[in-house]
Amino acid sequence: MPKKRASASSTKELPPCHGPKLHVFQHQNSPIKWMERLDIDREEGEETEGYVFRAKIRTREYAIKVFKFYNPLSSKYFWGPLLGEDTALETAAYYTDPFFAECRAYGRIKEATKKRSLKAQIAIPCHGFIFLKENDERTLSKLGIDFGIARIDSDFQQNTEGGWRVRAIVKDLAPQDTGVDKKSVGKILRGIRALNKHKIYNMDIHLDNFRNGQLVDFGSSWTEPHLLLDAQHDHAARNSKLSDLEKFDEMIEDEEIQTDVRARPNPKYCRKLRAWG
Ligand SMILES: Nc1ncnc2c1ncn2[C@@H]1O[C@H](COP(=O)(O)OP(=O)(O)OP(=O)(O)O)[C@@H](O)[C@H]1O
Ligand SMILES: [Mg+2]
Repeated sequence: MPKKRASASSTKELPPCHGPKLHVFQHQNSPIKWMERLDIDREEGEETEGYVFRAKIRTREYAIKVFKFYNPLSSKYFWGPLLGEDTALETAAYYTDPFFAECRAYGRIKEATKKRSLKAQIAIPCHGFIFLKENDERTLSKLGIDFGIARIDSDFQQNTEGGWRVRAIVKDLAPQDTGVDKKSVGKILRGIRALNKHKIYNMDIHLDNFRNGQLVDFGSSWTEPHLLLDAQHDHAARNSKLSDLEKFDEMIEDEEIQTDVRARPNPKYCRKLRAWG
């Protein structure tokens, strides 16, 4: 990894753009004891945003999601036509990098739970972001972790907040069970609707992103204000905002959960009502 590292220790909140922000983890300077990977059920060759570890900091265990470096040029085919081809790479990154997506979603969740307008249960609690120290990077590299440095654009990376330092988000450690079943789906759907009401769109509702009936992954989320949502035509923006409800129903069908709970009108009910009418 290149030697030059920006001083990131003074960064208190991210991302540095309009909208919600995530705070730095309060024990950012404490040593981390890295334990096993939690994201092991992946399919062979699956492209991922990063790695999730069980880890101990001071006396408590957490789940730490370590993000790969992000090159906004890799998604320019998508944001270029919407935001404009000459949009600054850092601006594009604030709205497309999975790390910033999580920062923005958790920033809004924190604001809303503080104001008591959102109950915290739908998302696994988050404790803030950290920049890994060199010894942590060395430890993880020895475990074969690839931070994706080969894919980055050095000029862009050099000038980002944190520079060459690897970014991570600290969350509560959840049990490995998804907790999605016929008893919990009603509450989960209410939680998703509440997130949407607070203008957080997870955009990746599926079974593997739940633990203990709570969402663990906001890496694909869009939280308003969001430049991509603003740039979409009305119809596309409406579809983006409905994505969580559609994916929730797909999850119920795909996982064959025995329930009538649906986010959108349930075709089975509609048929029954027509038959009764
Ligand atoms: N807080 C947590 N506690 C326990 N396990 C977790 C936690 N966060 C994530 N995991 C495990 O790690 C897996 C990957 O986490 P996550 O979905 O956040 O990463 P990802 O890189 O976005 O994955 P993908 O892109 O495949 O969705 C989860 O499916 C879950 O099994
Ligand atoms: Mg995931």
